[in-house]
Amino acid sequence: MDAIRVRGGAVLKGRVRVSGAKNAALPILCATLLSDGESHLRNVPALRDIDTTAALLRFLGRGVSVNAPDVTVAAGKDVRPEAPYELVKQMRASVLVLGPLLARFGRAKVSLPGGCAIGARPIDQHLKALEAMGAKITLERGYVLAEGPNGGGQLRGAEIVFDMPTVTGTENVMMAAALAKGRSILVNCAREPEVEELGRILNKMGAKVNGAGTDVMHIEGVTPGDLLPFDHAIIPDRIEAGTYMVAAAMTEGSDVILEGAEIGDLEALVAKMRQAGVIIDAEGRDIRVRRTGPIRPVNVTTAPHPGFPTDMQAQFMVLMCTAAGESVITETIFENRFMHVPELLRMGANIALRGNTAVVDGVKKMYGASVMATDLRASASLIIAGLFSEDETEVRRVYHLDRGYEHIEAKLGGLGAKVERVRNAES
Ligand code: EPU
Repeated sequence: MDAIRVRGGAVLKGRVRVSGAKNAALPILCATLLSDGESHLRNVPALRDIDTTAALLRFLGRGVSVNAPDVTVAAGKDVRPEAPYELVKQMRASVLVLGPLLARFGRAKVSLPGGCAIGARPIDQHLKALEAMGAKITLERGYVLAEGPNGGGQLRGAEIVFDMPTVTGTENVMMAAALAKGRSILVNCAREPEVEELGRILNKMGAKVNGAGTDVMHIEGVTPGDLLPFDHAIIPDRIEAGTYMVAAAMTEGSDVILEGAEIGDLEALVAKMRQAGVIIDAEGRDIRVRRTGPIRPVNVTTAPHPGFPTDMQAQFMVLMCTAAGESVITETIFENRFMHVPELLRMGANIALRGNTAVVDGVKKMYGASVMATDLRASASLIIAGLFSEDETEVRRVYHLDRGYEHIEAKLGGLGAKVERVRNAES
């Protein structure tokens, strides 16, 4: 597997373009199942997760052409409403075909995603909601078998109260409700910008979704023929933008402009970074990030949007490793999302873990080491740590990074970081 080598100490300067949002593109690709005809997506990032989704849609019977940043999805003659384990195990977001398949074709067979490195990640909320809409759900040999009412009929609108805001759960149910008979009310919805973006797409297709991006949604179901293919450019990736913001803050004197970023989607992170002493300015559709002095310690607790994103926790922790003092970082979304901590300790960080809390005492120096992580954002945090460390850091198994960061070594390299990809390195 490939590795990425980082030599620390470079001051980052220049401009970097933010790619389209992975977590917006994935549900939107799945939403193409709701209509016939040919949909066009633009500003799609070149990522492994996009290729996996394309493979899944092809398996289901769609014609997909990926030529990043453009993706075309065309309806085929037949559909095979089944997401096999081989694809779902590569990417949990494959579960996003469950809602559209069931709503459109009256049945679906989708592999249960199982646990993953960051936690158990059940899908009970997705299933409970679909059951409330009249679906019959059975679990058999690791698969969810779902059938519309009366042997494959149209779902019924329902009032659903999510036990917790779930991003893909809300998205799955939105897509199901778009084609259900009558009105659905979704309460305690996830409010992430990617959920709002899906609402925008569904309405572009002809659905009647109200309130996407807030915690209560009203969806008036329409009939399948009412939903049309679409042409849409995906919103910028706020987590990729946030990752480069933190990277820019790692060395004194850095001055980086993120092109095409949406500062409104990053409020919690921006507020915490400013508290830490980083200078952040919105300049039109760009964000300028500068570090002119030391980093102050800041406490952070992850929360559903608009709170501090769990997907930025690992990267922010690395920034806190360089702060002048002690900070407390609490992870409330996933039970096992501190996998970067043992690796950061090997690089000389000073972090004490107590349950879901990490107490980080800043250090003056960190040291390069061979490290690896089994999740996307943790891997990104190790690269960022490498930017601050003395000598060379080798981040192994970048398989995970390639799922979510487009051309990360080229983008960081363009800012002056000393970063290179090593093909087929030791893993
Ligand atoms: N949860 C349940 N039951 C459910 C669904 C969720 O208990 O049926 C729990 C989860 O275990 C977790 C919490 O609810 O404790 C929130 O999980 P959520 O369902 O919101 O996560 P997700 O939809 O599986 C998406 C992103 C993740 C991101 C989380 C949280 C996509 C494709 N994935 O996952 O992104 O961390 O929301 O914001 O949108 C990443 O990009 O690296 C990534 C992991």
